[in-house]
Amino acid sequence: MMIDFTFHNPAKIIFGRDSLSHLAQEILNYGTRVLVVYGGGSIKRIGLYDEVMESLNSIAASFWELSGVQPNPRLSLVYEGIDICKKNGVELVLAVGGGSVIDTAKAIANGACYGGDVWDLYLGKASNECALPLGTVVTIPAAGSEMSFSSVITREEDSCKVGRNSPFNVPKFSILNPEYTYSLPPYQTAAGCVDIMAHLMERYFTQIQHVELTDRMMEGALVTMLHNSPIVMADPTNYDARAEIMWTGCLAHNSLFQTGRIGDWASHKLEHELSALYDIAHGAGLAIMFPAWMKYVLPRSGAKKLAQFATRVLGVPEDLGTEEDIAYEGIARLEGFYRSLDMPVRLHEAGIDDRDFDRMAQRCADLVGGTIGAFVPLSASDAVEIYKLAL
Ligand code: NZQ
Ligand code: ZN
Repeated sequence: MMIDFTFHNPAKIIFGRDSLSHLAQEILNYGTRVLVVYGGGSIKRIGLYDEVMESLNSIAASFWELSGVQPNPRLSLVYEGIDICKKNGVELVLAVGGGSVIDTAKAIANGACYGGDVWDLYLGKASNECALPLGTVVTIPAAGSEMSFSSVITREEDSCKVGRNSPFNVPKFSILNPEYTYSLPPYQTAAGCVDIMAHLMERYFTQIQHVELTDRMMEGALVTMLHNSPIVMADPTNYDARAEIMWTGCLAHNSLFQTGRIGDWASHKLEHELSALYDIAHGAGLAIMFPAWMKYVLPRSGAKKLAQFATRVLGVPEDLGTEEDIAYEGIARLEGFYRSLDMPVRLHEAGIDDRDFDRMAQRCADLVGGTIGAFVPLSASDAVEIYKLAL
């Protein structure tokens, strides 16, 4: 039976070629003292930085800049941002970039209104009662952070990567112009597509029955990704395909598809250990971990849902054989699709061996209180077996 839910996502999405023209007014809705957060320089190369500066100057905003956010964003930069906000009475945090920039901005916006150590919020040891408003200008469709409740930060001393969900993490507004994604390197484009698909699949694999509407919406979204991902790999400036992917990425993680069901998220937790320790792109890690997770849970969950996924999303013929045969063929096709995007599908292809399996599995289990995932609840020793399958 569909489980009870409340769905409330107040993020305003401004989408399309002309969307940045709304930025100045959106900022003004929250103030004129702005912290602008961005990454390693891509926004300057594509001219977006200048456009954002123009918007800020047009409303005579006072602004501070925090640049240098790295993929798999680090806690130390979050502390710097919080400090700037507190010292200068910042009224709005503006993230210009991808998931790493947005997640850093989320941590800063929360930490700026909290008296203690922001990391305690991530560890679940404390809670905050307010946050600074946050706006985003998105440059890579992937993490879905522009509309999600999550922020994922890595504490560099011990490579501990932790996600935190909170209503205070939902941006007030997000500006999405598919043209800003034309400049993405193929590897980042592909990793983003894999991550978007993973956000759908984490929710798709549930033991909750009678969730047909969300099943079918996600199947549609996944087919949209299968269709458009190869198009942007071959033709990076294809507006139509970039737009389909960008909007799918946003919807895939805004919790609409989570309604009435319990998602799994084991593959994400297993992946976060990889990107924390080896600093690979989150999406590349998911291309490795998701198929391995599927292979491991298949005999333990019954093949029905995996077979449904295989037929409806990947077009495996229903008369191929048993449900199990169909499910395995679906996993093989998914791996083939990831390979076609030049993503790694085994750990060794990403230069990772088995030396940290025990450590990653144990921390993964510890961070979630012992049980990883929900479709098939897994222990640390199950996690080790999944890493072995991924080798
Ligand atoms: O730093 P710059 O120079 O901007 O380069 C970035 C970065 O190197 C580059 N890039 C971004 N837009 C570009 C561009 N290069 C050229 N042209 C553009 N238009 O891409 C690289 C990756 O950026 P990043 O922000 O790290 O990518 P992504 O959006 O995939 O974010 C990944 C992070 O989000 C977390 C991941 O774990 C990872 O830390 N996640 C956050 C979630 C959330 N908050 O809801 C959910 C996800 O499951 C995920 O865990
Ligand atoms: Zn993800």
